[in-house]
Amino acid sequence: MNGPLTHGAHSVLSPASGQAEAIVVLWWVMLAVSVLVFLAVMAALALGAWRARRPGTQALSEAASRRLVLAGGVAVPLAVLIALVLGSVRTDLAGADDRVPGARIVVEVTGWQWWWAVRYLDADGATLAITANQIHVPVGEPVRVLLRSGDVIHSFWVPNLRGKTDMIPGIVNAAAYEATRAGVYRGQCAEFCGTQHARMAFELVAQPREDFDRWLAQQRAPAAVPEPGRAAEGRRVFDRDCANCHRVREAGEGFWPQGLGPDLTHVASRRRLGAATLPNGPAHLAGWIADPQGAKPGVHMPPVPLEPGELKAVVAYLMALE
Ligand code: CUA
Repeated sequence: MNGPLTHGAHSVLSPASGQAEAIVVLWWVMLAVSVLVFLAVMAALALGAWRARRPGTQALSEAASRRLVLAGGVAVPLAVLIALVLGSVRTDLAGADDRVPGARIVVEVTGWQWWWAVRYLDADGATLAITANQIHVPVGEPVRVLLRSGDVIHSFWVPNLRGKTDMIPGIVNAAAYEATRAGVYRGQCAEFCGTQHARMAFELVAQPREDFDRWLAQQRAPAAVPEPGRAAEGRRVFDRDCANCHRVREAGEGFWPQGLGPDLTHVASRRRLGAATLPNGPAHLAGWIADPQGAKPGVHMPPVPLEPGELKAVVAYLMALE
């Protein structure tokens, strides 16, 4: 599945779920109240300045001044702030229930510096598929999402779908996500987690159930057997130079406990590379392998010094892993 992001795909103002709609209502209410308060304060300032310049203006009595300060400086701000806090807490509570009765799949996302490991589990907790940096969900169905961290504190945020949830080492946070509108939405780490925090992004694809089932079946399948020739040579290079950190799951092999780098079993089916840093394709993949630090300085992937023929071969191998 290629193509651009959905219009407005990284915006809290373009909600694609019930929770995001509640947040956007709160956002507009807060903006409107803030504008009204600002205008009222400016009007009071202008009135004061105008009265002060008018000849013969009497100063307010001390009692009247005190009443004005207590009302305008204490009572009204207190009432406005309490109302906004209550609205905020109400919005928060409305999205706090992470139970999804009868959920057929659970998506477990683990934040790593600076990418996202994604594991699909069935109702009994058995692994269905492992992928990275791209999350698919069926549209119109609640999905239970478990959020973990493998190293430092990250924060999982898909602005179109709901607010941020921290990913904390040693803790599993759960949330229910339900996309009401099909689309491709951008997600972003929202907690500073090191040099490449800004390029710790992912894409969330909300799609009709049939398309989702097809995608999940594809991700569950083992990797394609490389064609003899260049791709088969690429697999040898991969085993020699890449397989310490990355895994390609072949027929007859089980799922891997999480490793150092993203699982690449179906890397060619992904839209982007390097945690949504680069478009996916042979040229970008070759550039990424040869010089990951150029695209993402500080990334934990070292440059891989390959002969030009070896680089072409490993790219041919990986790009056949649909
Ligand atoms: Cu992970 Cu910021």
